[in-house]
Amino acid sequence: MSSSFIDLRSDTVTKPTVEMYQAMSDAKVGDDVYGDDPTVLELQEMTATLLGKEAALFVPSGTMGNLICVLNHCSEFGSEMILGDECHIHLYEQGGCATLGRIHSRTVRTQSDGTLLLDDIEQQIRTAKDNDHFPQTKLVCLENTHNRMGGKVLTVEYIQSVGILCQQYGLKLHMDGARLMNAAVQLDIQPARLVECCDSISFCLSKGLAAPVGSLVVGTHDFIRRAKRLRKVLGGGMRQVGVLAAAGIISLTKMPKLLELDHQHAKLLAQGLSTIHGCEINPESDVQTNIVVFQLNPNKINIDAPTFATILKNEHQILVTVQGKFRCRFVVHYMISEENIEYVSQKVKQVLENNKK
Ligand SMILES: Cc1ncc(COP(=O)(O)O)c(C=O)c1O
Repeated sequence: MSSSFIDLRSDTVTKPTVEMYQAMSDAKVGDDVYGDDPTVLELQEMTATLLGKEAALFVPSGTMGNLICVLNHCSEFGSEMILGDECHIHLYEQGGCATLGRIHSRTVRTQSDGTLLLDDIEQQIRTAKDNDHFPQTKLVCLENTHNRMGGKVLTVEYIQSVGILCQQYGLKLHMDGARLMNAAVQLDIQPARLVECCDSISFCLSKGLAAPVGSLVVGTHDFIRRAKRLRKVLGGGMRQVGVLAAAGIISLTKMPKLLELDHQHAKLLAQGLSTIHGCEINPESDVQTNIVVFQLNPNKINIDAPTFATILKNEHQILVTVQGKFRCRFVVHYMISEENIEYVSQKVKQVLENNKK
């Protein structure tokens, strides 16, 4: 996509910073399958420390990170996990846990704030261990921030309450923390606090943190040793991958402080959208981090989301994600300026006014 586009489809579109390119070019490398790439080792250690866990493992993507964690926790034949019906693992990872791991998913309704109700989780736990009709519940998965729910932040207190429930029933707790740093910045706390009671975390560098590639799986030494075997069988063992880890180190050291600005820009964008005829969003309650989900109101305007997206792209060089017939999503990131936000608000207004009922 040409750089003349204002690309708000996702924060995955972020390009490496100048400092990242420099670090990549200077990176000391080794063969990471043998475990001797010094830059990867440094990144892994930094991430484990950041999240307050024993160890971390660099993997190619968030999808592989989640898959490795779920396979790891649910290695026993006939295992089941409980997860939200709107979570990324369930909706957008090709059902990999079922396809590759033969793991059964038991979904509960995702609330608009990204949480799963404790009662809903508890009701789905299989307690009858000796009943041959049922799979065995092994794992609960949460997502922070919650992508489909518009970047909503799960609080420490909520995660702890799920952690206590998991302990009570002998279950593991996995966190899809693709945007965990956005949650930590929004709550103004250390990311480790958010995962204290999680057994595993998949943490992405290539979203708002802008690295070109990569995620980390984080957990105990024993968990990470098994994760390394799983990474290899999934084809994720990489060799001189310090060139990528070097960018990841910049993601951890330099990018978190920029997320606050992304969140401010997202709020500004939502405020602009909320004043536009036919555009439905509440900037206060709907937007907490860098994701702005809004609805077009078919009673007020004549176009649906796909047509709206096509007009924005072809006539105004703005890229938006369509998430339903009338549902759209903008994701703000470090390459988006305040000027861009103002331009996007103006153009959305123009397009919707031209298509008023
Ligand atoms: C919440 C969440 N989890 C996992 C992923 C998967 O990450 P990747 O695209 O690196 O596989 C994404 C990607 O957008 C995501 O939003």
